[in-house]
Amino acid sequence: MHSRKGILALGAIAGAGALLLALSPLAPASEREQARRPAAPDPIVSHAQQMLDEGRQTFRYDTFGDQVFWSRTLKIHQALKTVTPRTALAVGLKVDAEALPPGLLANADLDDPATTAALLRRNAVVGLRGFFDKDRNLVAAGITCALCHSTVDNSVAPGIGKRRDGWANRDLNVGAIINLSPDLQPVAALLGVDQATVRTVLRSWGPGKFDAELFLDGKAFRPDGKTAATLIPPAFGLAGVDGHTFTGWGSVTYWNAFVANLEMYGQGRFWDPRLNDAAKFPVAARSGFADIKSDHDLITPKLAALQLYQLAIPAPAPPRRSFDADAAARGKVVFSAAGCNNCHVPPLYTEPGWNRHTAEEIGIDSFQADRSPDGRYRTTPLKGLWSHAKGGYYHDGRFATLLDVVNHYDAHFSLSLTNQQKHDLVEFLKSL
Ligand code: HEC
Ligand code: HEC
Repeated sequence: MHSRKGILALGAIAGAGALLLALSPLAPASEREQARRPAAPDPIVSHAQQMLDEGRQTFRYDTFGDQVFWSRTLKIHQALKTVTPRTALAVGLKVDAEALPPGLLANADLDDPATTAALLRRNAVVGLRGFFDKDRNLVAAGITCALCHSTVDNSVAPGIGKRRDGWANRDLNVGAIINLSPDLQPVAALLGVDQATVRTVLRSWGPGKFDAELFLDGKAFRPDGKTAATLIPPAFGLAGVDGHTFTGWGSVTYWNAFVANLEMYGQGRFWDPRLNDAAKFPVAARSGFADIKSDHDLITPKLAALQLYQLAIPAPAPPRRSFDADAAARGKVVFSAAGCNNCHVPPLYTEPGWNRHTAEEIGIDSFQADRSPDGRYRTTPLKGLWSHAKGGYYHDGRFATLLDVVNHYDAHFSLSLTNQQKHDLVEFLKSL
């Protein structure tokens, strides 16, 4: 009897023989031609590649026409004309070094707003697009997904380097940037407050945070007086995950349509009758956010490729020696023994299926969960945790370190973990 391996080897030899025959001058001409011609590209693979290219373009550079809102309405471009690159970096904006010709940065004056304009002209400010007239005057500016969900690798200088798509920008002070706008009256009118209040709220967010629900329910502060803004989450490692956002609003493509229409103020079409709930979402209900229609839909045609691109972004592997491998191996056992894997199911580290939980289940208050349709928290997929330590953990960063998270679970689930087990569990979390 042949071994399995033997059959495979024989098959390979027979295959090679057939190939040789096809290439030999004795073979008929048509067969020779066929063997020489490269295999036709797999139509599914080439379609996926095209979508990835389009999706990346959209994720990095597309404003969906939102410059109309940010410039005609909020006039943010006027403020940008006075912003130096140093100030831009200080509020967490990142510079894509690969978009710049060599030498430009070395000779650039980082205290001259003209340099900011030069960077914008070259599309080198991550997530911020400038629009210029023929005399090179900045006439409008808009934002893209990359603003909040990309960083750079700092390979040239802090804040300047190669793009890292999908990484959460925890340096970005979104509130401070919006506060640059000379006219926030439209936002004040939407929320039914005065401009000074809007500015106070924007100042309360701080770096790495944004409040996606403020423009639905008008709640700027939690009952404890702290900001209602959440951390900016990473947008990598999302394939296989059902519910997205901290509170599981919907799928990736649901949320993309939501954000592009309702947060970035792009021009598109959006439908979600859940927003007609005037008790839960008073601002959204009176503003008609449940059913948005624009004359030119610049969003819907881009959703498919944008979704595919995001699902393709892997969570970044932790740097070598950034964790203790032996402790992490022991911590993996603790992760199972403590029941963490009941919800954070490997290798997704969220539940396959409906991945939402009540506040009581995880032992925290329900404020943020109650601001979402299902009133739940979504089990966070844990891969790449090491890359967003800044700002803390859980939706609002309430736990400054992973050890704080572990201590919380230890108390909530009465786990009675030893200090050694806690340490090992933290090393395991750092290794994901
Ligand atoms: C102003 C900052 C900002 C911009 C711009 C932005 N996002 Fe987000 N994004 C957030 C915040 C904050 C959340 C968390 C929202 C929540 O949980 O309520 C989020 C959540 C997400 C999530 C869910 C991640 C997860 O863990 O499930 C995805 C996916 C996402 N954004 C993709 C995008 C895309 C695509 C765009 C462009 C169309 C975009 N975002 C634009 C701030 C931003
Ligand atoms: C009942 C389901 C459930 C169990 C069990 C569970 N988690 Fe979680 N976990 C969640 C949910 C839901 C969140 C999101 C909380 C939030 O953002 O407010 C979360 C968040 C986290 C985070 C924060 C992630 C981030 O990016 O901020 C870490 C770390 C974590 N869990 C680790 C663990 C560990 C370790 C255990 C075991 C000791 C565990 N979890 C047990 C549901 C669970």
